[in-house]
Amino acid sequence: MSDKKTIVVGVTGGIAVYKALDVISKLKKAGLEVHVIMTEHATKFVSPLSFQSLSQNMVVVDMFAEPKAWEIQHISLAKKADLMLIVPATVNVLGKVANGIADDMLTTTIMATKAPVVFAPAANTNMFLNPIVQDNIRKLKVFGYKFIEPEEGRLACGDTGSGKLADTTLISEIVLSMVYDIKDLKGKKVLVTAGPTIAPVDPVRFITNRSSGKMGYAIAEEARDRGAEVTLISGPCNINKPFGMKVINIKENHEMLKAVKENFESSDIVIKAAAVADYKPKNYSNKKIKKVNEDLVIQFEKDTDILRTIGEMKKNQILVGFAAESDDLIANAKSKLERKNLDYIVANDITCNDTGFACDENKVNILCRDGRNISISKMSKRMIARELFNIINEKR
Ligand code: CTP
Repeated sequence: MSDKKTIVVGVTGGIAVYKALDVISKLKKAGLEVHVIMTEHATKFVSPLSFQSLSQNMVVVDMFAEPKAWEIQHISLAKKADLMLIVPATVNVLGKVANGIADDMLTTTIMATKAPVVFAPAANTNMFLNPIVQDNIRKLKVFGYKFIEPEEGRLACGDTGSGKLADTTLISEIVLSMVYDIKDLKGKKVLVTAGPTIAPVDPVRFITNRSSGKMGYAIAEEARDRGAEVTLISGPCNINKPFGMKVINIKENHEMLKAVKENFESSDIVIKAAAVADYKPKNYSNKKIKKVNEDLVIQFEKDTDILRTIGEMKKNQILVGFAAESDDLIANAKSKLERKNLDYIVANDITCNDTGFACDENKVNILCRDGRNISISKMSKRMIARELFNIINEKR
């Protein structure tokens, strides 16, 4: 498995402190080691215990607390960090760092680290736009500090304008793409399908499945961070649009088929994580089906197997499928690998409650065309995606 990266998260005192919890949770799920330093003011908004529970590490606040180890903490965390993220960053911390002030654990660690430091500011609009603050930001940028710019919106104080902390998913994604510096997919085109498709019954009803799209999105994001040019074809999912890739939204099997066919030839790697509806109603009713009979019988007919279709078209592409199975996991997955002319198949047992469909974690076996069966223990979908590309790139 790839080396664990360490993020030191600095939390400063603003109303957006609670959102830092969400960022930390996302970084942990992505498999990163997280240490938290809070300012005294931040602890007035949210207790260090919440940060300790989520980061699974002691939270550091006081510079002069009894040491718990023979390390000078601001130096040891400064050295440990692969990246420092200050979220939320108040105008106070920006002002201090821009002017070389180091008077607490967080600012001393920022001064001492050689790792990249990223600020995600959040403040009242007038404070944020104050020329002194803007001048500090300019100065920090000149020194190489990075910023995840705040959004415009309605702020906690009731004002509307810029100063709203950037979206927490965007913050965690940017951090991940900065620390995860393997660019082994640079120059490659990766096509990913994700989520369910729907099969309409009448103008108001459709059938679909439980796929959340989380696995496919994690794969697309991992490919992007490794330098690939990514096209994501997504069924209806409740996930924010990821940055840095082309996203094609579709609903039905035939729309996914069309989008996949259009993008297949130019792709180097194609990963079909979508849960495509196998059947559609034989007769779509243009009118809403009324509640007249006791029983309702809908006849279904087979729809296109998209993966099999592109398996037949395959030239030099690496083709990866998924197999969602409730029994005979390996045997069924092997048979799909052969039938659909795949190079790899990711097999997951959908009967487990805490992995697979709609969960944040997964536990899979990756079967290779050369006969290898690699068992991946339970881990975040992002880490599964990382392992998959490591295998495709023969990194393990
Ligand atoms: N797949 C596809 N088109 C379909 C059905 C499945 O492209 N109509 C793809 C999925 O994206 C997945 C793989 O085929 O990568 C296997 O999907 P799965 O639902 O596990 O298998 P099926 O082929 O549908 O077979 P079964 O439902 O009988 O297990």
